[in-house]
Amino acid sequence: MTVGLRMVGGMGGNITSCMPDTSRANPRRAAITGVATYVPDRVVANAELARTLDTSDEWIITRTGIRERRIGAPGETTSTMGAEAVRRLMAARNLGPRDVDVLVVATVTPDMLFPATACLIQDRLGLENVWGFDLSAACSGFLYALTTGAQFVASGAHRRVVVVGADLMSAIIDPLDRTTAVLFGDGAGAVLLEEAEPGYGILDFVHRVDGSGASDLMMPAGGSLKPATTGTVAAREHYLKQNGRTVFKFAVSQMAGSVERLLERHALRATDLAAVIPHQANQRILDATADRLGLPRERMASVIARFGNTTAATLPLALDDVVRGGKLKRGDLVVFVAVGAGFTIGSTLVRWS
Ligand code: ACO
Repeated sequence: MTVGLRMVGGMGGNITSCMPDTSRANPRRAAITGVATYVPDRVVANAELARTLDTSDEWIITRTGIRERRIGAPGETTSTMGAEAVRRLMAARNLGPRDVDVLVVATVTPDMLFPATACLIQDRLGLENVWGFDLSAACSGFLYALTTGAQFVASGAHRRVVVVGADLMSAIIDPLDRTTAVLFGDGAGAVLLEEAEPGYGILDFVHRVDGSGASDLMMPAGGSLKPATTGTVAAREHYLKQNGRTVFKFAVSQMAGSVERLLERHALRATDLAAVIPHQANQRILDATADRLGLPRERMASVIARFGNTTAATLPLALDDVVRGGKLKRGDLVVFVAVGAGFTIGSTLVRWS
C-alpha cells in the first residue's frame, strides 16, 4: 500500500479529500488473509418490534430490506463481541497469543469512553506483545481501520495486524424511536492483515470526511460538549439521532461517487469487479448504488435482511458472507464502500488473494 498522502480538493483551506500519493509507491502491500465474525444468539424479528412500536414488518422490509437483527444478551458488550470474533479468527489461522502485533478496533459503542476497547479485547484474549487503539468513524470505521492497519504492514513495521469492527448499537438506540429502533443491530467482525504477494492485496483507497453533516447523524449527549446529566438522560439525548432522509440522499450519491473515483484512477469499470462490499444501512441505498454504477445487483453484497445496520461490523459481516458463499476467487477485484456519521465516506480497492 502506498504510504504518502496527498490532500485534494477544497478551496480556501477547506481541505476535505484525501487520496494516496501513487507517485511514491511502496511496493509492499497488505492483504486480508482471514476473516471471522460473531453475532449474538438472540434474533429480533420485525414483528417483535411491531409489538411495542407504531411500525410493521411490511414497512420495515419495504423501506429498509431488514427482516431481523441480532441483539446482545445482558453482559454482552462491544469488547466481548469483538474478542469472540478475534478468537475465532486466530483459531481459524492457528495463531497464538504472541502472534498478533497490532489490534485496531473500529467502534462508536466502546464499552467505556476509555480505556480503549482494544485494551479490553487484548486482556480478554491474553494477547502478548500487541499494541492497539480504537478508531471512531461510525459506519466507515471498519474501512478507515483497514486502511490504518494496512499502513503498518506496508511500512514493514509489523507482520500481523488484526482489524476489528464491532458495535453494540442496542446500547445507544432509543427503543421508543421507531425511526431508528428498527434499523440497527449488534455484531462484530475481524480480519487479519499480512504482507500481500506482489500485485495482490489492498491496492488503493479514496477516503473523505465532511463535517458539515455532523448534526444529521449523532449522539447529542455524553461527550465533552454535553456531559451526561439527569437532564440529558431525561431528554433521551444519550441515544442516536438521525435525519434519515438527508442521510439517505447523501449516502446514495456519495457511495456511488466514491467508487467511481476509485475505478477511474485504475481505468476500471464496475463490471470488472467480482463484488462490491458496501456498508449495510438500507437495501434501497445498495440497489440505487448498484444501478448508478451499472453493477449487476447480485454483485452488491447484502446481509442487511439478517443483521440490519451493525455500524462498524457490517463490512466484515458482508465480507464473511461473500467468502463463505465462495463468491471470491484469487485475482478477483473487490471494492469496499461506506458512508457514515460525520459524514465519513470511503472506498477501498482490493485484489483478492
Ligand atoms: N415504521 C413506520 N413508519 C415509519 C417508521 C417506522 N419504523 N419510521 C418512519 N416512519 C414514517 C415517518 O414518520 C414518515 O411519516 P410521515 O410521512 O407521516 O412523516 C414516513 O414513515 C416516511 O419517513 P421517511 O423518513 O421519509 O422514510 P424513508 O423512506 O426516508 O426511510 C429511513 C427512513 C429508513 C431511515 C431512510 O431514510 C434511511 O435508510 N436513511 C439512511 C440511513 C443511513 O444510511 N444511515 C447511515 C449510516 S448509520 C451510522 O453511520 C451510525
